[in-house]
Amino acid sequence: MQTTVVDHPLVAHKLTMLRDINTDTPAFRQLCDELVTLLGYEATRNINVEPVQVQTPVDVASGVKLARPVPLLVPILRAGIGMLDGMARLLPKADIGFVGLARDEDTLIASTYATRLPADLTGRQTFILDPMLATGGSMETVIRMLLYRNAASITGVSLVAAPEGLARITDAFPEDKVPVRIVTGALDAHLNDRGYIVPGLGDAGDRLFGTI
Ligand code: PRP
Ligand code: URA
Repeated sequence: MQTTVVDHPLVAHKLTMLRDINTDTPAFRQLCDELVTLLGYEATRNINVEPVQVQTPVDVASGVKLARPVPLLVPILRAGIGMLDGMARLLPKADIGFVGLARDEDTLIASTYATRLPADLTGRQTFILDPMLATGGSMETVIRMLLYRNAASITGVSLVAAPEGLARITDAFPEDKVPVRIVTGALDAHLNDRGYIVPGLGDAGDRLFGTI
């Protein structure tokens, strides 16, 4: 398992605004969208390409194009939806699957309420989108779903991660027969006794969509 904490002043600037309790829902959505495009640059570093030649107005240029099969994006409902548009803008031909998970507030265990994924992901590079990697339970659940379906590689993209969650994913997927990678905008201090990331940004789903 490989972890990348993206170290970039623009990411740090936008994350600071995102964390701010005074940032309202429209601004929060906009910042999530912008942040995932910046993190997506790093997350897609190993995206499969194949050689291609194009005719420029002057000469033939050798370049690359994204290889098939197309990647799969998997936002974890609900909060992952806030990262979908930004990532799909980078990979407009990607397919999109969905997993709905909700954490029990007492046990912190995530239970699955929706799964819409292709049955066979052989050869497919996959990207899980979830702003918060707290205990890591939600991310681990979806990684297992994608491994079960034979994904070729799995990259989890989060905005903020806790050390406890990263340690859990590292322990759960120690081998890299199928590459598993986490790309995050920040590695925070710890979880509090309610399973929230400290200092974090609060409840990402509520801040994106309002309290339900
Ligand atoms: C939040 C968050 C992540 C999950 C992270 O979702 O959006 O999906 O918790 O926690 P974990 O790493 O401990 O599993 P929540 O279950 O609150 O649902 P929501 O997205 O619908 O708000
Ligand atoms: N889910 C959130 O939305 N925020 C946290 O800090 C932890 C889990």
